[in-house]
Amino acid sequence: MARVAIVTGGTRGIGEAISLALKDLGYTVAANYAGNVEKATAFTERTGIPAYRWDVGDFEATQAGCAAVAADLGPIDVVVNNAGITRDGVLHKMSFDDWNEVMRINLGGCFNMAKATFPGMRERGWGRIVNIGSINGQAGQYGQVNYAAAKSGIHGFTKALAQEGAKFGVTVNAIAPGYIDTEMVAAVPAPVLEKIVAKIPVGRLGHAEEIARGVAFLCSEEAGFVTGSTMSINGGQHMY
Ligand code: CAA
Repeated sequence: MARVAIVTGGTRGIGEAISLALKDLGYTVAANYAGNVEKATAFTERTGIPAYRWDVGDFEATQAGCAAVAADLGPIDVVVNNAGITRDGVLHKMSFDDWNEVMRINLGGCFNMAKATFPGMRERGWGRIVNIGSINGQAGQYGQVNYAAAKSGIHGFTKALAQEGAKFGVTVNAIAPGYIDTEMVAAVPAPVLEKIVAKIPVGRLGHAEEIARGVAFLCSEEAGFVTGSTMSINGGQHMY
């Protein structure tokens, strides 16, 4: 039976490309999403990949959502924690809510998903968890103390859980994307984005598929010796 994978935030942007890449790998994929029903419905019609709605920042909803996926498709062997939001602003203008929502969803979502799926992977002796971090979690970014802290937290979370999973065949890795041509990056003010792109040695934004290729490798059977690592895919913007 094909292995079952969940991609959080899996119906749009980088997540959509990851869902498709894992399907190409032969996995049975479930794409989680939080709010955009219209886009999720169109995604399922286009790809045949079922979409499941819950907020990954909500602990109980995540346990129930993962249980529903397992009941429909089988035990979950692969998790890609991709769901994330931005609430950019300089610290002196940032509200507690802007801080908290980013921490709750981007970092809390990884914990909630791992709580729902890691014990099963551990018992069955095989699993793949890939967490989507960010260049801005590695290097920091003006106007993103919330996002940079959450993404940096994801990198620490990855290395800690990798140590817990290693002897059970469960690998845990991170990908640190740079600036990718998604809606999230399109929301950065144009003059600011121009300056950022000027600092990317490859000279352009990345494509979602370029992140998905890395995720597919880390989720593959062949990547069993890769754990606790961070793969930077950023056009050379930050060499780390
Ligand atoms: N370094 C130093 N100074 C900077 C700066 C930077 N990188 N960016 C802006 N400033 C300065 C400006 O020059 C300006 O200074 P003056 O007032 O002296 O002219 C001051 O900060 C205010 O700038 P803004 O007018 O832009 O202020 P704002 O309050 O309207 O907006 C901001 C601030 C929200 C941070 C805005 O600049 C912004 O959106 N920046 C982009 C942040 C970013 O890169 N987000 C990434 C989103 S995509 C993502 O996160 C995906 C991923 O993983 C890569």
